[in-house]
Amino acid sequence: MFSLVAQYIYAPGHRPGPSPLPLLGNVCHLTTKELWLVATEWAKQFGDVVYIHLFGQGLIFLNSPEATMDLLDKKGSIYGDKPGLVMAGELCGCDNMVAFTRYGDKSKRQRRLLNQAFGVQAIPSYHPLIETETHSFIRRLVAEPSEYINHVRQYAGGLTLSVVYGYETSSNDDKFLNLGQECVDILSNRIASGGGIWPVDIFPSLKHLPTWAPGSGFKTKAAAWKSRMEEFVNQPYSFVKTSLKSGSYKPSFCSMLLEDEKNCTPQFEFDLKHTANSMYSASMDTTMTVFCQFLLAMVLHPEVLAKAQKEIDSVVGPDRLPTFSDRASLPYVDAILNETYRWGVPVPLSLPHRLMEDDVYQGMFMPKGSLIFGNVWYVSAIMRDETLFPDASVFLPERYMENVEPALAKKRDPRRYVFGFGRRRCPGVNLVESSLWLLVASVLATSEISKAQDAFGNPIEPKVDFNNAVFRLPDRFDCEIRPRSEHTLKVLRQTEVAGS
Ligand code: HEM
Repeated sequence: MFSLVAQYIYAPGHRPGPSPLPLLGNVCHLTTKELWLVATEWAKQFGDVVYIHLFGQGLIFLNSPEATMDLLDKKGSIYGDKPGLVMAGELCGCDNMVAFTRYGDKSKRQRRLLNQAFGVQAIPSYHPLIETETHSFIRRLVAEPSEYINHVRQYAGGLTLSVVYGYETSSNDDKFLNLGQECVDILSNRIASGGGIWPVDIFPSLKHLPTWAPGSGFKTKAAAWKSRMEEFVNQPYSFVKTSLKSGSYKPSFCSMLLEDEKNCTPQFEFDLKHTANSMYSASMDTTMTVFCQFLLAMVLHPEVLAKAQKEIDSVVGPDRLPTFSDRASLPYVDAILNETYRWGVPVPLSLPHRLMEDDVYQGMFMPKGSLIFGNVWYVSAIMRDETLFPDASVFLPERYMENVEPALAKKRDPRRYVFGFGRRRCPGVNLVESSLWLLVASVLATSEISKAQDAFGNPIEPKVDFNNAVFRLPDRFDCEIRPRSEHTLKVLRQTEVAGS
């Protein structure tokens, strides 16, 4: 009864949100550039829950920690589905990738595999691989600093190939790195370009157009992309199987799960190879975003860099690089990582969740099929509450060095928001907690970072712009990165000799 009343009160046109045009909906309100800023203006105007629609497809923005947790977390069983994208999923073959798999048995099986291999307990077994990839990254960074974006891309790809398949990349021109990069490019810059909304996603019957018909070019493109994606699902997986047969393999996500041969039913292998493949694209843009935000913060805040280096020098000393065993003694480095998540907000609107049943929240009717966005950009603005975080727009790791009550510490923890929500929460979070920490600690230990200089030696202010529709990835900005000393270079050469 209540639901019927709510449906009436909040029938389209009565839900809080900018006024739609007939049929077209809010097409003219949407943008692919920093949509989170627009969504935040709506939040200020319309409140905790904002509804818009595109040709009848509802989009709901949750703008308070309470609304986000109440729905995406506590009611995760009905707010945990994914949008059914015809172009990306069905036509390009991504529907078996974890980030696209619809809620159901398959997604549950995939999450089980991920929890087994990326649970907190499993992470220390990946530490040696993480150290190897981090050291290679630092050597490349100090040798060719202007290429920092390529280096971090290679690091993220190499780490994933190594952790997931036990595959060691040979060089920047490695066959699996190239194939992986091509697939990430297809996914981010072709399938998802312009926000990833294809006419066939709005009018699914277009998928039945014959390939000779005008306007069916998207089907030809999808077929070509699908075939490359399938190669990337199959080839690294075949590498693991062959290595396991020969007995010469590095322990990895796949080898760990394939050890028990009786598990190896066709369905298990299908799930495993698609789950494994999902890791690559899921880790790429996210890792690059957090690293570039960290780098930007160091360029803008030399005092933070200097303070972190002082801490590292006193704990680690000059003759080696930081290791995981140093972490407990380096609280300021941890504070920098926290502040990078908070200040950088890497995925400001998280990924959309699809509502599986009609629902009512605070008297508002939420229609089945709506796509729900946790507005992390605005939600994390609770941290702009001056009593919690004075000068919230400033990068200030010291805020995480304060001794506060556990309940307050939990409320201020950016991890509650930046890795998504409920049963869809990022399954890579435990791995990232280790890998990004070592990355940040190692860069701080080895590199001087500052503003670039013009021909007259004047500092150049980094030009910061965001053009990625999903990730708050700054466009390439100028900066200067140098090894801290000759001695640092010697220590780095030793990591190479040690084979790490
Ligand atoms: C700093 C780095 C990262 C950030 C900020 C991040 C953030 C996120 C977010 C916001 C989501 C969406 C969650 C939701 O729908 O509510 C997600 C999903 C996902 N992440 Fe991450 N992630 C990171 C790194 C990684 C890494 C390294 C991996 C793999 C090794 C990974 C694997 C995944 C997968 C497979 C999903 C899809 C989960 C699903 O839909 O059920 N992520 N991540």
